[in-house]
Amino acid sequence: MYSGPIILIGFMGAGKTTIGQLLGQITGLPVIDTDITIEEQEKRTINTIFNQHGEEYFRNVESRVLRQVVSENAVITTGGGIILRAENRQLLKETGNTFFLECEPNVVVERLAEDDTRPLLKNKSLAEITQMYHNRLPLYKECATCTIDTSTLTMEEVTELILKRM
Ligand code: S3P
Repeated sequence: MYSGPIILIGFMGAGKTTIGQLLGQITGLPVIDTDITIEEQEKRTINTIFNQHGEEYFRNVESRVLRQVVSENAVITTGGGIILRAENRQLLKETGNTFFLECEPNVVVERLAEDDTRPLLKNKSLAEITQMYHNRLPLYKECATCTIDTSTLTMEEVTELILKRM
């Protein structure tokens, strides 16, 4: 019998969504994705929110959504930038059970090569994405109760590890 929240954080393309779905299937817990909740509440895609209102507005909505969902008895998957605001990091630390899915930037770039749904990766070089990743790394680590290097593991193996470490 598993109880939530089980929170997944990590860079874009780390596999949070896929692993969140697998965790939901195994534990029977509902899965809440902060990006999907944002799109539902705003009735627009993430790309449109960034284009129409900019990143600051998006981060405000993201922080509000995190506050709404963070204590749910659920698997909670988050956007890669959720750790940028100190208030969000504080919430994640207080809640505990926050798993950081670590993934090398070159793997991220490979996985997301054909994906145009991430406004922050648009027209970015590998060097720029690597820089963004390294800027964020200490913030992910600050919030995580457990870090899992996903670069060489299958999604199923990562899921199993998370369940073992709960
Ligand atoms: C972002 C990651 C995205 C989404 C938005 C911003 C980021 O989510 O929240 O595009 O700043 O890293 P994923 O991590 O699910 O791609």
